[in-house]
Amino acid sequence: VNKQWNILVVDDEMIMRESMAAWLMEDGYQVDTAESGHDAIAMVTDNPYAICFVDLKMPGIDGIETMMEILKIQPDTSAIIITAYATVDTAITAMKEGAQEYIVKPCNPQEISLLVQRIIKIKTLERENKMLRKRLLKQYEFHDIISKNPKMNEIFELIKDVASLPSTVLVQGESGTGKEMIARAIHQAGEKKSKPFIAVSCAALAESILESELFGHEKGAFTGATERKLGKFELAAGGTLFLDEIGDISPKLQKELLRVLQERSFFRVGGTSEVKVDVRVIAASNRDLREETYKGNFREDLFYRLNVININIPPLRERREDIPLLTTHFIERIALELGRGVNGISDGAIKLLLDRDWPGNIRELENTIERAIVSCRDKILAPEAFAFLTDVDDSRSGYGLPGNMSLEAIERMAIEATLKRCDGNIKETASVLGIDRSTLYDKIKRYDIKR
Ligand SMILES: Nc1ncnc2c1ncn2[C@@H]1O[C@H](COP(=O)(O)OP(=O)(O)OP(=O)(O)O)[C@@H](O)[C@H]1O
Ligand SMILES: [Mg+2]
Repeated sequence: VNKQWNILVVDDEMIMRESMAAWLMEDGYQVDTAESGHDAIAMVTDNPYAICFVDLKMPGIDGIETMMEILKIQPDTSAIIITAYATVDTAITAMKEGAQEYIVKPCNPQEISLLVQRIIKIKTLERENKMLRKRLLKQYEFHDIISKNPKMNEIFELIKDVASLPSTVLVQGESGTGKEMIARAIHQAGEKKSKPFIAVSCAALAESILESELFGHEKGAFTGATERKLGKFELAAGGTLFLDEIGDISPKLQKELLRVLQERSFFRVGGTSEVKVDVRVIAASNRDLREETYKGNFREDLFYRLNVININIPPLRERREDIPLLTTHFIERIALELGRGVNGISDGAIKLLLDRDWPGNIRELENTIERAIVSCRDKILAPEAFAFLTDVDDSRSGYGLPGNMSLEAIERMAIEATLKRCDGNIKETASVLGIDRSTLYDKIKRYDIKR
């Protein structure tokens, strides 16, 4: 069993290097050796090592620096510093920079053997743990969407049933609840998954631009239209067109969209020949569209056309049982992406996450985990890693404002901070600030705020 574990021994002294390697090979491990920090770093780049023994005093790159480089490349490696001169200072430095152990020459084979055994035992457990967690997650996963909430599972079942139908689907849910993921899952679960899936965000674009985005335009349709351009309806042919933030489209486009859904055909902007539509439309909104129809902001006939199949995603605070699952999933993914050795979270930290309301839902949880991982120096995320969650409110509440700011400067600051917090989402920012979108656009323009 020891054969599956690789160990690297880094020492400039040949005798030390070779005898260490020989002892370890006797125990059945795969052992490589390097005679300098430089060589060691190159080897670590190409091979995974469970353990690296690194001599402290070496010409060129010294032991501590070598170890730090190794840990940067392979955060999961256990580094052990070996030295002939034991001082408390170097021991402390070594441990602070991430060494797991610190041993003093002359090394005793028996001791080394036990030490390695102990580390490998922990690594074996970690590996098994990871595999079990993966299997557990798989059980609660549907096309990358993770949930064990009963309502979500009903949605998964519904998706399986309707994926291959051409019917229009309306996906509703607060921002960050996973509307786009659901749309993609519907596409993936269907028979036409090899056809395109095209997403259009209707909120970000001005009416005329959105119109030509959706329907395309003919050459010469307007100044600047030097070529014929195909719209998303044509680009998605045979597949799925995802209309995100549908609640934001103008009355004129609402009318045009209704026509497309009824007639299954449209004209390119400036065009005279009818183009047939062969797409499955999935629309999403983070507002309650039915309510928008009552308020007169959204056409009722279009609402019914879109709402053939309705999927309502519950917010994260109504499915808190998903928080631990999602957290584990995000830790694994983000630690890998960022090359960090974080591989778990403490009970205390989970409790802290469970107690929050997550107005930005899963996206907010994901960003929070990323932030915690970036600043975490341990393998396990402890509550301290989430200290910023409580600090943030302070800076946002305005108590920290200097007393010499004009109202305009404060307004600008509030808009910038909220925009940032809402990932640049205008609709969300406007709703947090309690103003309507056009007012927000005006202010962004007036203050020349970058989004
Ligand atoms: N159930 C889930 N399992 C795993 N990841 C999820 C889940 N739900 C959402 N996510 C992740 O959360 C983020 C937000 O998801 P998505 O973009 O689908 O939400 P949205 O509802 O479209 O948000 P918005 O309203 O802000 O556009 C994405 O990074 C997505 O990968
Ligand atoms: Mg979205």
